[in-house]
Amino acid sequence: MSKRKILVTSALPYANGPIHLGHVLEAVQTDIWVRFQKMRGEHCIYVCADDAHGTAIMLRAENEGISPEQLIDKVKADHKSAYDGFLIDFDNFHSTHSEENRHLSATVYKALRANNRIAVRNITQLYDPEKGLFLADRFVKGSCPKCKADDQYGDNCEVCGATYSPNDLINPRSTLSGATPVQRESEHYFFKLPEFTDMLKAWTRSGTLQEQVANKLSEWLDAGLQEWDISRDAPYFGFEIPDTTGKYFYVWLDAPIGYMASFLNFCDRTGTSFADYWAPDSSAELYHFIGKDIINFHALFWPAMLTDAGYRTPTAVFAHGFMTVNGKKMSKSRGTFINGHTYLRHLHPEYLRYFLASRLGNGVEDLDLNLEEFVNKVNSDLVGKLVNIASRCAGFITRGFDGVLGAQLAAPELVTECQAAGDEIAQAYEQREYQRAIRQIMMLADRANQSIAEQAPWTLAKQNPQDPQVQAICTTGINLFRLLMTYLKPVLPAMAIKAEKFMNVPALRWSCASEILLSHKINHFEALMTRVEQASVDAMLAEAAADVEKNSQKSAAEPSTPVIESPLAMEPVINEIDYSDFAKVDLRVALIVEAAYVEGADKLLQLTLDLGADAQGQPVRRNVFSGIRSAYQPEELKGRLTVMVANLKPRKMKFGMSEGMVLAAGPGGKDIWLLSPDQGAKPGMRII
Ligand code: 2FM
Ligand code: ZN
Repeated sequence: MSKRKILVTSALPYANGPIHLGHVLEAVQTDIWVRFQKMRGEHCIYVCADDAHGTAIMLRAENEGISPEQLIDKVKADHKSAYDGFLIDFDNFHSTHSEENRHLSATVYKALRANNRIAVRNITQLYDPEKGLFLADRFVKGSCPKCKADDQYGDNCEVCGATYSPNDLINPRSTLSGATPVQRESEHYFFKLPEFTDMLKAWTRSGTLQEQVANKLSEWLDAGLQEWDISRDAPYFGFEIPDTTGKYFYVWLDAPIGYMASFLNFCDRTGTSFADYWAPDSSAELYHFIGKDIINFHALFWPAMLTDAGYRTPTAVFAHGFMTVNGKKMSKSRGTFINGHTYLRHLHPEYLRYFLASRLGNGVEDLDLNLEEFVNKVNSDLVGKLVNIASRCAGFITRGFDGVLGAQLAAPELVTECQAAGDEIAQAYEQREYQRAIRQIMMLADRANQSIAEQAPWTLAKQNPQDPQVQAICTTGINLFRLLMTYLKPVLPAMAIKAEKFMNVPALRWSCASEILLSHKINHFEALMTRVEQASVDAMLAEAAADVEKNSQKSAAEPSTPVIESPLAMEPVINEIDYSDFAKVDLRVALIVEAAYVEGADKLLQLTLDLGADAQGQPVRRNVFSGIRSAYQPEELKGRLTVMVANLKPRKMKFGMSEGMVLAAGPGGKDIWLLSPDQGAKPGMRII
């Protein structure tokens, strides 16, 4: 059978921040699939690149006092080393700021223009006269035109939820310079996307997308597409649009073309034919692995551009969900925003690769990295089941038989069963149902361990270490281990290399599963994987929390999303603080005078707290949003005393201002207990 030709990509990470575990999820998902294809003998090429253009990168370089080129080079090296750390085996890792991409972007654009797919017209935008920049919505702040709340972003109000145009903000100002923006007109270039509606309706329903994704796109397609603004005014870090001055391609125009550019760079290095993969009649397969948040770019703009410019469209776009940590969105303030390098300083990459594989299906559901389950799963499956098979058997073969496997198997039917499972496991990998593949592999590992335990070679070896039955049992065990390791190699490539060395065999390929190792000399067994220690996980979390602290002091430039935080998040990390830090916290007894549900927030209650009277005898009241709704009904709380942090700087949340924090303890859910002072305490009393 002739080899399949497959080109695979992961989304290009932005060059304005580090690789975090969300990127790692995607890269691991893609890498497992690619390694699987390669093990099967298919011709599979995996390319990626840094996404290096845009205002954010220009501004960050300016902040750091370096050129954008210096910044993106530095970030690219950092990204690449993080991916290397997670054993992501790209065939090429390039940059969108490359000659290949400049050339291809211009080629695509000129083809669209020749086909009359580009409209040019003036639009009015806010402009920062001090910085000399047009302002994207996120760079404008002002008071909400509806509820008048201060300090709201240009497109929506976090207090009342209104959405509006930045032109409607009251007292708008540029977040870059503080200047009052002015309205300014400029000429923009648009891609006439609506002309592709019929093509896209057919394309999105032709098996190229997951069903949930296709359904979502149908809604958008039915609602009607809009022309897409593909230009940005100077100053902008990117490629100038051909035959213009001071007009640049919007970063999202040249980002997906970056897939082609990275591949072109690969072709030039290796003598591969570019046209074989990108010509309209190409028989090669093309797959993009992406996050569900960037589907419109890959399943609308991208296929439309490609078809019109005379290239083939993707065979399929595979979207995945987001990663959550301990059940919640990765959050800087919770210390669960974990960078790739932070993880790698404390934990082995294959722990995470395995855990992710054991949870990944082919849908768009979010994947939770519950760290307790992570520790248990890795220790129980990899160390307790898989490695155990080899470590139990190896010693008897080494000691009793000079390291040589027997000529017979003790349980040939089990080996046959394990070989027969290969097709189904392969199918699961092919369909990106890794969870199913892992489940099946671990079931086989259980059967292998059970069989060894039943035959108890250790008992026989006590009588006679050279008993041929001992050799046959352990030869079966090593063969089972070899099959399981073959099936797990796409997930655990480094462990597979160690296992190959131990078994003294060449690099495992999928077809090796049809062979059996008999009368074969193996090497000394050395630990293939050690247990994950909870302490390492804790240390990683502590470092992630400390990173955030450092960065928040460094850059106030990045807008941070307000996170509704409950004081109840249970982290296994205890970060020490000095007494002087503690002394700053003003803890007071508070009387809950009102408690109410918060519309649109299923975790919060809104509390009105009474802190007694101030020096003038005026009642001191505080409004606090607290994440205790899973444990308390509002009625239960009225009239109760609790302890609060009274001097927490008021924080603006989506639902209003939160002026303090009540203290509670417990693992979460229903088990949350408000800390209540002893009877006799009075509102406003200081906790000492
Ligand atoms: O969402 C992102 O992080 C983008 N940098 C992904 C780009 S993918 C492709 F289109 F280049
Ligand atoms: Zn508002």
